[in-house]
Order: sequence, then C-alpha cells, then structure tokens
Amino acid sequence: MKHEELKDIIRICRDKTKIRYIHKGGFFTPKLKSINHLEVGRSKIISSPITIFVEFLYLIKKNIRDFFQKLRKKLFPRPEKIFGKNKDSNISGKLFFAKRNDYARPIHHIRIEFWARSRMFKWRKLSTALTGQDGYFELKYDYSAARKWSNGLLCIEIYQTTHIFFRKDKPHPHEELFKRIEIHKDDLVEGSLRIKDIHLFYWEYRSDFPTARVVIKDHDKDAPQYYSKARCDAASEQIIPFELTKISHHVQINLESEAISIESIQNDYPINLTRCIESKLPGYTRSDEYFGNRLMNGMNRGAFLPDKEHSGHYWIKYFGACQYSVNSVYAFPDAEIKFEIGPDGIPIPIEIVLTGPLTAYEKNPHSRHVFTPSDGQNWAAAKRVARVNGGVSAEIDEHFTGTHLNTEQFAIAAFRNLRINPIATLLLPHLKEVVLINHSADKLLLRDFLPKATALTGKGLSQRVCDLLGTQDWKDYKPMVPISEEHDVAKSDDLFWQITGQYVDNFIDENLDEIKLQWFEIYCFSKDLVENSVRVFMSDVDMGKLSPAEKKQALDRMEYYFFKYSFNPSLERETINGELKALSPITKNNGSTDISPEDIQNLKDVCRYIIFVATYLHTWINEHQYDDLGELLYNCVGLRFGDGENGVLAPESDLRIAPDLTHATGTLWFANLLSRTEFGFITRNEEGDVNPVFAQMLLDKKQEFLELGVDVNNIESRTNI
Ligand SMILES: [Fe+2]
Repeated sequence: MKHEELKDIIRICRDKTKIRYIHKGGFFTPKLKSINHLEVGRSKIISSPITIFVEFLYLIKKNIRDFFQKLRKKLFPRPEKIFGKNKDSNISGKLFFAKRNDYARPIHHIRIEFWARSRMFKWRKLSTALTGQDGYFELKYDYSAARKWSNGLLCIEIYQTTHIFFRKDKPHPHEELFKRIEIHKDDLVEGSLRIKDIHLFYWEYRSDFPTARVVIKDHDKDAPQYYSKARCDAASEQIIPFELTKISHHVQINLESEAISIESIQNDYPINLTRCIESKLPGYTRSDEYFGNRLMNGMNRGAFLPDKEHSGHYWIKYFGACQYSVNSVYAFPDAEIKFEIGPDGIPIPIEIVLTGPLTAYEKNPHSRHVFTPSDGQNWAAAKRVARVNGGVSAEIDEHFTGTHLNTEQFAIAAFRNLRINPIATLLLPHLKEVVLINHSADKLLLRDFLPKATALTGKGLSQRVCDLLGTQDWKDYKPMVPISEEHDVAKSDDLFWQITGQYVDNFIDENLDEIKLQWFEIYCFSKDLVENSVRVFMSDVDMGKLSPAEKKQALDRMEYYFFKYSFNPSLERETINGELKALSPITKNNGSTDISPEDIQNLKDVCRYIIFVATYLHTWINEHQYDDLGELLYNCVGLRFGDGENGVLAPESDLRIAPDLTHATGTLWFANLLSRTEFGFITRNEEGDVNPVFAQMLLDKKQEFLELGVDVNNIESRTNI
C-alpha cells in the first residue's frame, strides 16, 4: 500500500477515535462528586436515584445560600470611596509566610484593607495599602470615622490574586479575600498602632516531597485555588461512563472471574487508534513502520539521538529500572532502539538492545540482549517490550514529571511572588489548577496505580521523578529538530515555539517600563524557583564509586536525557546547601539597579518556556495517551515477567505477561481519564482568562497546524488533567 494511502487510514482512524466532549447529562445520570474524588478503585460517584435527589436538594440549598450571598453583596456593596476625611491615625504591621523555613520571608505587594461594617451591615472602607518589599504595611485612616458608634465591626482584610480575566483585550486581575482579622474598637488608638506580625500559610512549599510542591492538607477546604464548577461538571460528565464500566469489571472480577477476560474488558472501552487501524489493516500496527511512526509522532514523541558512527542512523533510549526501587512482578529493562530513515521518511527500527532481566529467573541487571528484524517472534516481542517501556517512560518522565511537576514548580513561585508586575497577567492564566491535579495525582497515579501496574515502587517513583526533573531547565531550551519530512511533532513543536516566542516578546516589549519598575517580583520569583529546584541529574553521584556497568548506564542516561530535554549541563548554575540546582536563575538583580538586557532576555526565555510546557507540550502527550495506551496487548504500562521460560519475549497470546484483570481495566480507565482534556482551551477561552491576542496568533496558523495533525482549538490553556 502506498504511503499516502496508509496516512489516510491513520488520519481517518484518528478522527473516528478522537475523544470529544458532548454535553448530554440528564437529571438522573450518575454524577462524580468532584475531580478530587476520583479513585483507581471506586470513585465517589452518586448513582442511586434517591441519592441523586438528595444531592439535588443539597444543590437547591447551596443555590439559595449563593443567592442570598449575592443579594447581600448587592444590598451592602463595598464602596471604593474611603470613609472619613482625616488620615490622622494608622495601623501598621508586617506580613510574612508562616511555615518554619519561610518564617522570616516577607510577603510583598499584597493588598490589605481596613474595613468597618455598620450595625445596619453597611460597609465602609477606611483604608487600603499594599505591603512593601519587606512585608510592611501602613493603613492610614480617620480615627473618629473608625470609632463611630454606628460601626459594629472593624476588620483588616488580606486579598490574594486568584484569576486574571480579559475584558476587551485588557487583563483584569481578580482578587479574593484570603484572611480577615477582626480589630476591637477599644484597641484602636489615636495616632499609630503597631499590630503583631501576621504569618500566613500562603502557597507554602511541602517538605515531604523531593520536588517543589505546594501544601494542600484538605482539597475541599484549604487548597490555594479551586476548580471552577464548569470544569468539574465537564470532567464529571466525561469520566462517569468509564467509571461505571470499571466498577462493573471489579464486581465481575470478584464474583465471577471466569466470565471476564482481557478481551471482554478491552471491548467494554471505546475503540482506540490502534484497534481502529487493525480493523482496516490487520497486522499493520505491529509492523516496523508503525512502530517507528508512533515512537516519532505519537505520545512518546521520541528524541532521535544521532548515532556517532553511522550518519543517518539514530537512537531512541528508554531507561528502565536502573537503580530505582522496583518490585519483582514487572519487567523494566533499558530499551535502546536503533533506527534508519525509510524511503518515506519514517524511522525504521533495525536493532533493539534490551538490558536487564527479561524473565523471572534472570537476576543480572546488566544482562544485554540484542535483537534484529531477522529474529522473527523475538523481534516482535522486543518491539513490544520497547513500546511498553516507551509508554511508561512517556507517562512518568514526559507527562507527569516533564509537564505536571515541571509546571507546578513555576506555578508555586509565580503565585507566591507575581502580583503587580505585568508578568502576572502573562503567566498566571497558564499556571492555574496544576497544583490541584497534581495533588490528585499523588494518590491516583503515584500511590494507587503506578506502583501496582508497573515495576516501580512508590519510593522508586519519587526517586525517578526527582531525577528527571533534574534534566529540565528553561535556559537554553530549544524544541527538537526534525529528522525527516514526516517528523510532524518536531515541526509542530517549532511552530508553537515560534508563535509563543513572538507573543511573549511583544508582551514584554509593550510592558517593559512597568516590568522593570516591579522587577523585585521577578527577583523573588527567580529566587524561589532556584532555591526550591531539584539538583542537576547525577550531580550528587560519585562516578568513581560506580561499577563499570553502572557508570556506563549513568553516562548514557546523562547523554540521552540532556539531548532529549535540551538541557545544557555546562551552564553556570547555583549551588545551595551543597546541591547544584537544575533551574537557572532569571536574574540576580533585585530591582535596585538598572535591569540588564540579558536579564530581560532571560525573562522572555523563561516565560516562553513556561507557556510552551504548560499548554502545548502537556496537551500533546495527554491527548495521545488513548491512541497509544488504549489497546492492552499492544501497549500497557507494564509487562509481567510471568512464569514462562521466555518471560516477556512471549507472544501477545501469552496472557501471563499481560496485565492482570484488575490492572487491565485500571489501565484503560486511566488512559481514558487522562486523555479527556475537554475543558480549558486557549482559543475557546471558556473562562475568559486567556489573552485573546495569543488565541488569535494561534488561529492565524490554524491551517499550518492542521497539516501537522494538530487542531489549535484543542490546545489547552493550562495543565489541569
Ligand atoms: Fe496530564
């Protein structure tokens, strides 16, 4: 079959199996309590009609409460005008973070207001101020106006920026009350009143995880931000059908396991890309050509490292168990695949090297197995092992670490520090909600799914994500270079990278004076980023203490990861508490002297990188998950050793190495859940929080993207699933 005809079939199947969100919820359809209540086992859904009715009554109560809150706001508005004429008195104090490590760290540029509420519930604004760089604030007010008998309540209110909304192309920061402190009227003194330092648990860093994470003790009560109702509704409607499928599988597995099989589980989930292609071209998805095509342009988006000895040959490398904590159920060897470029521009595998145990009986972690296309069944099995390793590496290394955790470190530093600098309006819309989905991932992905469906234990996973984040830095980052005309992902990366670069450059040039004026915020942003960065990958390893095989693996990993993630290890980086920090500083200038052109360029580069990772890069990996992980025997996230003498080199028909039934439904449930990103897009701008200029720049290139297989209307504005 001709190359173009094959491409047409793949295109048709991609379109046919593409996940779409069509709102069709009815009154008595089951509902998910919220994204926070998803479970790998059994999510908290409401399916009984009685419970749904009770939930309906609760919603009525909530709506009535919301109505009265809105009515109260309308009846008793908060006037902007300051009440009182003389500013003869003041209340001063200082604002700090509250966590022990942060206790002496001031919170700058946060809005503090002094309010009175009359005995008739009328609000009177007495004063407003921003904290200074040292957290100091001074609220000047009219003493006699504050002391009026009619004032029933006096309070200091602290506000945080939660959203940036765009109206008529102009950004409008939205602030919400973060903390209210009541002041007794009798405590007021005419003149100056200095109150005790205020310490806020505000976007605090966790100390129990190796990468930068925010503290969320209770996602319903004390999260630093919350999903919108529309986002929760969309997620609920999309996942409920698969939740019900998974629940029915669990019931069958427990009660009548002989009536359920890998095949029946597979058939209960929607058809995915590979199954669709198989229905039209049996055997094609297991061919060398499709293997190369998917590792190049699929979820894996492999990086092709040129072979040092043979021009035109390339390597993709998926490193497996290495020295991480692993279980004994699943195989996880290193998989290195050598390619040549075929006549149609598709990389064709010509050699696969698997290093590590392939059977339950093999123990040597450095045993090497080399396969070529002439190896028949073993070649097909080696491709499957490589494909599965590609799947789990893409999930843990690329998806969770490279986009979710990578974005969270920027989100925390941004929300802690960017407030009145215009960069807040550029970045915050793309950084919202990532901490929430990552909080859910801690339990769903890191605790309940991956340690049971892959070789890595919980400890191994946290070691690996820390290592991989140590290969990510904004400085000197460049997207991959296309290796052939068919390298769509590299071309599409570059197109998005160029547009984002232009958008960021224009924004910063247009707002340069104000950005420089508020440079202190950039300085603090940079400081938080670097101080909370992980160490550079392998920078804490004494190579002299490794065995020759371990040293070779370590050097191979460094070479490949640094190439893949465009990480420049020779940059001058900061060492803090003995750790060489992976993230480069943006600036060392705290705004007290002129800002150098190099610092401005750094700011442009880091903003471009953040937007690229949080939007386009995450979307790519996320939306291709069901394509590549939606057929269990083609690719799951873990192949079991089984008890056969050939271990994972057995054919697909040997179900001893396939996932067990529980993990089979769990894997397909997960692939469905994670691919359902149908809320929060740049161009659709559902919540009015994306700069329309950026959306239009992407729409102007809609056709170019479409030719590379990307619909710009499907690119998410933030990482939220
Ligand atoms: Fe994701």
